[in-house]
Amino acid sequence: MTILKKKLAKKIEEWRPRTKKLLKEYSDVKIGDVTIAQALGGMRGVKCLVTDISYLDPFEGIRFRGYTIPEVLEKLPKPPDAEVPYVEGFLYLLLTGDIPTKKEVIDVHNEMVQRRNVPDYVYKVMDDLVECHPMVMFSAAVVSMEKESIFTPKYKNGEVNKLNMWESTFDDAMNLLPKLPRIASYIYRKKYKKGDIIYGDPKLDWGGNFAKMMGIGKPYDDLARLYFILHSDHESGNVSAHTGHLVASALSDVYYSISSMLNGLAGPLHGLANEMVLRWIQDVMKKMDNKVPTHQEMKQFVWDTLRSGQVIPGYGHAVLRKTDPRYKAQRDFCIQHLPDDPIFQYVSVLYDVAPDILKEHGKAKNPWPNVDAQSGVIQWHYGVTEYDFYTVMFGMGRSIGVLSNIIWDRALGYPIERPKSITTQMLEDYALQADQEKLAHLV
Ligand SMILES: CC(C)(COP(=O)(O)OP(=O)(O)OC[C@H]1O[C@@H](n2cnc3c(N)ncnc32)[C@H](O)[C@@H]1OP(=O)(O)O)[C@@H](O)C(=O)NCCC(=O)NCCS
Repeated sequence: MTILKKKLAKKIEEWRPRTKKLLKEYSDVKIGDVTIAQALGGMRGVKCLVTDISYLDPFEGIRFRGYTIPEVLEKLPKPPDAEVPYVEGFLYLLLTGDIPTKKEVIDVHNEMVQRRNVPDYVYKVMDDLVECHPMVMFSAAVVSMEKESIFTPKYKNGEVNKLNMWESTFDDAMNLLPKLPRIASYIYRKKYKKGDIIYGDPKLDWGGNFAKMMGIGKPYDDLARLYFILHSDHESGNVSAHTGHLVASALSDVYYSISSMLNGLAGPLHGLANEMVLRWIQDVMKKMDNKVPTHQEMKQFVWDTLRSGQVIPGYGHAVLRKTDPRYKAQRDFCIQHLPDDPIFQYVSVLYDVAPDILKEHGKAKNPWPNVDAQSGVIQWHYGVTEYDFYTVMFGMGRSIGVLSNIIWDRALGYPIERPKSITTQMLEDYALQADQEKLAHLV
């Protein structure tokens, strides 16, 4: 057993009685009601999922295992010559809730290096799909490895039970995660760099090795680590995290679950928004003949987009009601490393004008930017101008969070998910009943 797995086993043993006690002694305690608006409105705000990996406060933003983004960046061990922590250490934090020592991080790194090799047939799958969107190549590559699952044959052989099923799920996760930088960078080099593949270096960490295989020098390694950490988890109700959790709740293994969550991430209202932001900015740049717009000119572009019935990509959020701290962390990176970048200047002018316009427009509940408003500009700066690739990197980061959630779902024995549906007629009956109660109250 690795240090991480042993530590996780101990944490799980300590945690289980809490879930057991809640179920046994407090199962009738109400934590909320569901309104017609919520049933018809994408279940916003319905408290019906449990995760301890991260928590999203509408005004403060995300906390990973209780730590804010600045705390995570400050406290976790960093590779030599790096400003941003090891992704491996961040995984340790998400899984155990503890800040690892450098030794513990290196142990995770060594374990992952041994599991990095991608089977040959996966390259063939990706080669055959090279004309498709990179998210199709990514999702297909992941699901094609399903036959590597350790969990599934154990389940079929009757070797899996409620107490031990997290272990083979953990082993699957620890086989899948190390392969993602190789798979993603292969998609990039195959699709956009004429198949000129760059090999990895076993000494390098997850983020650093990805940067090497992308063929981009410093500080792209730090950017990669930052990008993966920021995109890892955002509670479990967003489309990708929820899809991963839902599919895994049927005891589908992590290859099925991660491939499914990637398919959800590929939607323009979710992970694809970072691609849409760059498209939008590029369009403005073209119209402006590359001149940075004045505030007045940018306001006009924003209003034109809204009046044509489109959303402003990278703005708004289902839960957040303030500027996303993930946006802020990337903005700080831009200010430090690329303050004069022309696209960054466009993004900054947009930030100056968009929130007030969205407030005046009066529809979006959150007029502030989210993570996607800033991420593409940095990629573009370092030469990753193929914006349909951005969501693949989002998917790599999101896999870290979703896999951590799935391992804990199994450890705590969460059952198959099955909310109840009702018909429109039933909603109308509830509405009528509410009217009658109001009337009776008046009389
Ligand atoms: C993120 C997002 C999907 C959240 O959706 P949501 O929870 O339904 O958001 P709201 O409750 O604020 O939506 C209320 C209305 O405001 C609109 N709205 C929300 N964000 C908007 C934006 N950025 N630009 C214009 N209108 C927006 C919605 O389309 C909706 O309009 P409707 O009533 O005509 O359907 C939404 O803000 C959006 O589409 N943003 C742009 C895409 C994006 O950045 N996605 C990445 C999210 S991390």
